[in-house]
Amino acid sequence: MRFYVTTPIYYVNSTPHIGHAYTTIAADILVRHHRQRGDDTFFLTGVDEHADKVARVAAAQGLSPREYTDGIVGAWQELPHRLNATNDFFIRTSDEGHKRFVQEFLQRIHDNGREDIYQDVYAGWYCVGCEAFKTEDELVDGKCPDHGIEPEWLEERNWFFRLSAYQDALLAIYDERPDFVLPAFRYNEACSFIEGGLRDFSISRATQTWGVPIPWDPDQVAYVWADALVNYLSALSYAPGDDLQRFWPATHLLGKDILRFHCVYWPALLLAAGYEPPRQLFVHGYLNSDQRKISKSLGNVIDPLDLIDVYGADAVRFWCARQVSFGQDGNVTLESFQERYDRELANDLGNLLSRTTAMIARYRDGVLAKSPGAGAIDADALRGAIVERFDRFDITAALEEIWQAVRRLNQHVELNAPWELAKDEAKAAELDAVLYDLADGLCAVAIAVAPYLPETAPRILETLGQSADLSLEHVRAQTAEAAEAIEPAPPLFPRVEEPTAAA
Ligand code: MSP
Repeated sequence: MRFYVTTPIYYVNSTPHIGHAYTTIAADILVRHHRQRGDDTFFLTGVDEHADKVARVAAAQGLSPREYTDGIVGAWQELPHRLNATNDFFIRTSDEGHKRFVQEFLQRIHDNGREDIYQDVYAGWYCVGCEAFKTEDELVDGKCPDHGIEPEWLEERNWFFRLSAYQDALLAIYDERPDFVLPAFRYNEACSFIEGGLRDFSISRATQTWGVPIPWDPDQVAYVWADALVNYLSALSYAPGDDLQRFWPATHLLGKDILRFHCVYWPALLLAAGYEPPRQLFVHGYLNSDQRKISKSLGNVIDPLDLIDVYGADAVRFWCARQVSFGQDGNVTLESFQERYDRELANDLGNLLSRTTAMIARYRDGVLAKSPGAGAIDADALRGAIVERFDRFDITAALEEIWQAVRRLNQHVELNAPWELAKDEAKAAELDAVLYDLADGLCAVAIAVAPYLPETAPRILETLGQSADLSLEHVRAQTAEAAEAIEPAPPLFPRVEEPTAAA
């Protein structure tokens, strides 16, 4: 199977915070899982440069937009790298290949024979934070509720896209494909927006110069969303390899604030330009702090790189998948981070490996015999549950399944008390079986958890003398081979003393 997954491309008007790391982590967990299944995958992330708010930040620093974005893009490229994200390409909308593709894309709509692009004057309240027009009833006390700023009155002659003509075509897609948008409540939200009637929107800006020139009217540049959405397609046209045919249509991950652009505007633009609509869209919620969205404009950001410095990338990835049910909003605090790190990573998983290897070293001179007992966990059921959860994008539920297996392995130690068995020569076979079942369960767990903990999983396998093959089919009973020279493992997740070091 093919699996092409994307994150939104991030605005570069400031540096990344944990909310941006969130989608990149989720996409990486998904794509690593699909690789484990043997799928042919492509993972795209990148940055959205041609926003008015980017041009404004540049001007405030006395820089041209290009100088500014060239200066800050490094911080955004560092993010996936430090998160251990395995993106195949990192797109910048200022790439020549992207700009050329956007022009071709808009020209295709312009020339599609249905007059889907026409000129008109638009006047309305524009929120620079959202880079979108707002209706009066979307404002609270005259301000954009998401950004806490007053929108600006904008009036200009622009090129418009006839979105209204695509209502039936969009509803037909939603009718045919009940899982086109997940979770289901987001599908319903998108449907009711479409059923409520669609208004054409302007796809160009006359008063800006920072952007992709409209091919048939170079005095105007493309509206930032008409430029940015196209990245999902353009990247395949110039990223190394000839991949457009191979990977389109894509699976898009996005936050709930940009649902309309992705679930309504984007499929319509694609149809108008003669491309297939996306395969699927998954809309996630917000990481909140004190019930408010973590965002630069609200000033409550957590820096993911600081967290990685203190706890490591695996711990940050784990926390993002585990703390908030993927798809829902959730509150996050640094205390919750420390708590999960200590209790679940260091204790549940780290100690399990330390105990298991210490017992193999002590009671069996480091030799693991292939001497299965009844098994400590049901690895086949675990594998099935993981696939089922991942097919619904429920990375949180899949991780919970894995953690139940971790807990069962710990119970297996307590219930069988290997230290008692070791005292009695007559129970040698029983002890071998308990040690094997533990090591075997740990191997299955390591492979299962690899998309979340890509640094830790191979370490577990290596410590147990196993090959580094992470195929999902190895999440099964008796996956562990006999091994020698197993030594007591040092802590997988060493104690971190200062929970506030990352604040
Ligand atoms: N540039 C547009 C996207 C264009 S995609 C063709 C944009 N950029 S953004 O930087 O403002 O947001 C990017 C993504 O980060 C969005 O999906 C947004 O929901 C997500 N998040 C930003 N803050 C967030 C949280 N606090 N929590 C979870 N995700 C959040 O929109």
